[in-house]
Amino acid sequence: MTGIEVPSAVIEVARSARSVAVLTGAGVSAESGVPTFRDAQTGLWSNFDPADLASPEGWARDSDLVWGWYQWRAQLVRRSEPNAGHLALTEWQQRVHLDIATQNVDDLHERAGSTVIAHVHGSLFDPRCSECGLHSQPEPDPFDERSDRVPPPSCPDCGGEMRPGAVWFGEPLPETEWTAAVEAVESADLVLVVGTSGVVFPFAGLPAMARSTGATVVEINPVETEISDMADFRWRTTAATGLPALVDSLR
Ligand code: APR
Repeated sequence: MTGIEVPSAVIEVARSARSVAVLTGAGVSAESGVPTFRDAQTGLWSNFDPADLASPEGWARDSDLVWGWYQWRAQLVRRSEPNAGHLALTEWQQRVHLDIATQNVDDLHERAGSTVIAHVHGSLFDPRCSECGLHSQPEPDPFDERSDRVPPPSCPDCGGEMRPGAVWFGEPLPETEWTAAVEAVESADLVLVVGTSGVVFPFAGLPAMARSTGATVVEINPVETEISDMADFRWRTTAATGLPALVDSLR
């Protein structure tokens, strides 16, 4: 047992849930050492705004800088491990119907053994050609921590410039991923919203959709967010503390 007090109402609704949808954001990876999107940027990147780097305009302005930032993030994730929150979801997913839809571009849910039905904002590990669209994972650059600019590789097919596999501000979400996330929420009777500030739509609209289809919504986040009003229960704890405690209580 983790010893943390799980709200009894949350245990009750989790126990009776036939279908669970878990919506995650950067906070679920924070305890693995992966900075959240709105954490203050550190080191090499402290002078850059992530919202600018993760944008078509940022790419057009300086693709070496943007590619370097994504290589740095990918390297950081490769050096990180799934945390107890990721692992708890894997255990729970083996016992009930549980769909994970994430905004995260890391692969920590998968490396914890979970199946993820949607990466609505793409993946660090799925670069594609900005010309012909070919998806190709080039060998990771021997990333030099001292340099923040890395020239993107060329497409093995057409020679075009490879771009990160993330969805940038202003770009449409991948249709298949978004549809899967909506279907998961619409069919769930319990929706957990874990580690997201709830400021980026359309993903941030999913909790309201869940409420409208009669699901119970539980937020797991140490602080109040833009979507806290949509939650039936606001559990002010962290992912790596709350999720294991909840799954333990369902045994
Ligand atoms: N456990 C749970 N939640 C946490 C933890 C933790 N250990 N640490 C931080 N959080 C919460 C923060 O309180 C915050 O509400 O995680 C949230 C992280 O918010 P953001 O940094 O805004 O990340 P996210 O909500 O995933 O951003 C959504 O915005 O910029 C785009 O594409 C990017 O996918 C990203 C999207």
